[in-house]
Amino acid sequence: MSGVNEIRSTFLDFFKRNGHEVVASSPLVPHNDPTLMFTNAGMVPFKNVFTGLENRPYSTATTAQKCVRAGGKHNDLDNVGYTARHHTFFEMMGNFSFGDYFKEQAISLAWELITKEFGLPKDKLLATVYHEDDEAFELWRKIAGLPEDRIIRIPTSDNFWSMGDTGPCGPCSEIFYDHGEHIWGGPPGSPEEDGDRFIEIWNLVFMQYEQITPERREDLPRPSIDTGMGLERVAAVLQGKHDNYDIDLFQKLIGASVELTGVKAEGERQASHRVIADHLRASAFLIADGVLPSNEGRGYVLRRIMRRAMRHAELLGAREPIIYRLLPTLVSEMGRAYPELQRAEALISETLKLEETRFRKTLDRGLTLLEEATRDLSKGDSLDGETAFKLYDTYGFPLDLTQDALRARDIHVDLTGFQDAMHRQRAEARAHWAGSGDTATETIWFELGEKHEATEFLGYETEKAEGVVLALVRDGAAVETAEAGDTVAVVVNQTPFYGESGGQMGDTGTIVTDEARLRVTDTQKKGNGLFIHYCEVEQGAVSLGEPVSLEVDHARRARLRANHSATHLIHEALRQKLGSHVAQKGSLVAPERLRFDISHPKPMTTEELSVVEDMANEIVLQNAPVSTRLMGVDDAIAEGAMALFGEKYGDEVRVVSMGTATSGEKAGKTYSLELCGGTHVRATGEIGLIRIVGESAVGAGVRRIEALTGVDARRYLTQQDDKVKALAAALKVQPDEVANRVTALAEERRRLERELTEARKQIALGGSGGPEDAEQIGDISLAAKVLSGVAAKELKGLADSAKKDKGRTVVVFISVAEDNKASVVVSVTADLTDSVSAVDLVRVASAALGGKGGGGRPDMAQAGGPDGDKADAAIAAIRDALRG
Ligand code: ALA
Repeated sequence: MSGVNEIRSTFLDFFKRNGHEVVASSPLVPHNDPTLMFTNAGMVPFKNVFTGLENRPYSTATTAQKCVRAGGKHNDLDNVGYTARHHTFFEMMGNFSFGDYFKEQAISLAWELITKEFGLPKDKLLATVYHEDDEAFELWRKIAGLPEDRIIRIPTSDNFWSMGDTGPCGPCSEIFYDHGEHIWGGPPGSPEEDGDRFIEIWNLVFMQYEQITPERREDLPRPSIDTGMGLERVAAVLQGKHDNYDIDLFQKLIGASVELTGVKAEGERQASHRVIADHLRASAFLIADGVLPSNEGRGYVLRRIMRRAMRHAELLGAREPIIYRLLPTLVSEMGRAYPELQRAEALISETLKLEETRFRKTLDRGLTLLEEATRDLSKGDSLDGETAFKLYDTYGFPLDLTQDALRARDIHVDLTGFQDAMHRQRAEARAHWAGSGDTATETIWFELGEKHEATEFLGYETEKAEGVVLALVRDGAAVETAEAGDTVAVVVNQTPFYGESGGQMGDTGTIVTDEARLRVTDTQKKGNGLFIHYCEVEQGAVSLGEPVSLEVDHARRARLRANHSATHLIHEALRQKLGSHVAQKGSLVAPERLRFDISHPKPMTTEELSVVEDMANEIVLQNAPVSTRLMGVDDAIAEGAMALFGEKYGDEVRVVSMGTATSGEKAGKTYSLELCGGTHVRATGEIGLIRIVGESAVGAGVRRIEALTGVDARRYLTQQDDKVKALAAALKVQPDEVANRVTALAEERRRLERELTEARKQIALGGSGGPEDAEQIGDISLAAKVLSGVAAKELKGLADSAKKDKGRTVVVFISVAEDNKASVVVSVTADLTDSVSAVDLVRVASAALGGKGGGGRPDMAQAGGPDGDKADAAIAAIRDALRG
């Protein structure tokens, strides 16, 4: 008897030996197909290869593909636990031919595998074919030698497989295993076919067509093969079991759950153990692929699965979270085949524990309410919708959980009443919104938010994805189409574009369809979690419902990421250097720079800035992986995560941590731990370099730090370096001598200025016409001189010096500037002021110079005039005045 792991590798090895490429399972979130909630068949990742849109370097392949059938079109959730073969998560093994082999080889390979490798007895097997497919019928006879009564023609859609309403499709042929007479049931096509005796184990699809629209079907470029074998089913057959939950893998999981709860998997309790085992698998694999519990889209399906498991744990008497404690068993069973499970083990464990801890708080109270509300109901009755809604809205019971809880008693839920209650609540929310004074343009986002689920943000994992247009808004109104030249806001079901928040600017990039091209200039978040892409339609037209490819401007996003992570590092460095009073007051994460405002009472010193910069860069150099985790807000804060005061956080927060502190109180512990929804580098080394380029005040007690990272920081430093080189060249020294040289030049300049002043004084006071050879006018000495190159402001000082130690002397100095403006100073010794007034004399001079008088005291007066060339005439006028 083979275990699940051996069966999987036997399958893959067999096809590998037969020339097939072994391809790893794709994620459960199909990024190439926005119409699908989860990957629900092995062929999903190859959809575009079948249709010819995509080429691969191989023409045949084999996989064991993770699949989830819960939510969306294929939904098995409600049945899980109560049947032998329903799962939310399962593995589909398959072999694929993309225009390589077709029916004959597909049947021949399948027959060889199940009869030779798996060793199933021929007389236990039968096949079905699409009723018109004579070729397949013949092949089963020829290759397998099956008697005609065990090749059954099926005329219904059961033997025509299609991926969905559109996509690749074709007739199929299924292989059935007969579990034996002891189980009731008949072969396919018989009236007893719904019994459990004959079980389908393998579906071979002869892919021939592509369903373009529900009415139009076209031939695929090349006939192809897609097969799907449920690993759990075939394991049951090979292990001689009838029930999938009896195979080795499930027995391990159920065994662990039995051990943990101390409740045997028997009778009524069997279903609970099965639900837990199945839902653990689905939850763990979904989380590993990036889905996190939330209230919308895929996240809500995950939450429903998790909470359903949690209620069953409660039924088993668990009073503490237990599902996360089963995870190690799952990882040891499946981790080798799916390494993502090992990689994400911590995240899965935490997410499970958190959801369970939180849900426990309301689970008991909700169950009590449910108990009271249904006490008087009996088989066939309905629970009123109001109560079901209250359980949903207040106690976090997804509708299917309530239904599941009532299933055993055969009580239903009044679904219409439930919907009514939901609508009533929404209408109240809308009334509240309308009253909040928001503008009409904002109201449209609220309306769209009500109509559509919150946009699913894919941008933590990918920068490129497919989506479907849900709404187009032009000039504040919803429209059906937008054309080249239009400016339009686009809402898509899922997007890799980050909507501006937490200081990080929205992404830009492109949205394209086969014929249209839109340039996304900004992305914002509005209404009920809608991401709005502001676009210019550059080419073609785009319409509602169209699938589109969205691609973020990668280079810009990389710079945003680096700047956002750098902001966290600077934040922590500031707190370490300046103290814990430092709180974030605002931030801007732009592609080309970052800005971070903090509460701090005084300007930072150069030393503080350089220490902060060094500390942040030290973590950059650690090249430490940046980790993001989801946790309860209280737990996150207890761990020391920095949160913004006054900020409203949901129950669950994203915690971003990076680096290891090397000194201070936190030495050896995580360096930066912040609540943050932004996008970050994968490892700190990607930041490259952090350079603080500014520190300034933005208000009382608030300082603003500006910094650059990566290429921008490098470019900045290069430019600084270039400036120093240019200076060095101009100064004719080596760059590192520039500072000394400039200091020396400044010193020299001061010395030269001093010398120059001295020299001018000498010239003013000495030489011909100076006071030493003053002319005598009566008993008055007149020392008058025209000075060139002497500033007007120096005349007074010179005149004072000139009359020092002199008696009965009048000093007149006139300086003429380059523009011919003259300044004149008249200074009179104290023993003359009784008879001679400096003010009178300066006016005489001013008149001669074309000026309008002057002013001062009797011993010192000053004036000016525009006609410098009349300086000699001005002196002559003073001479005349003194002569009387
Ligand atoms: N795609 C086929 C199926 O899912 C094989 O059954």
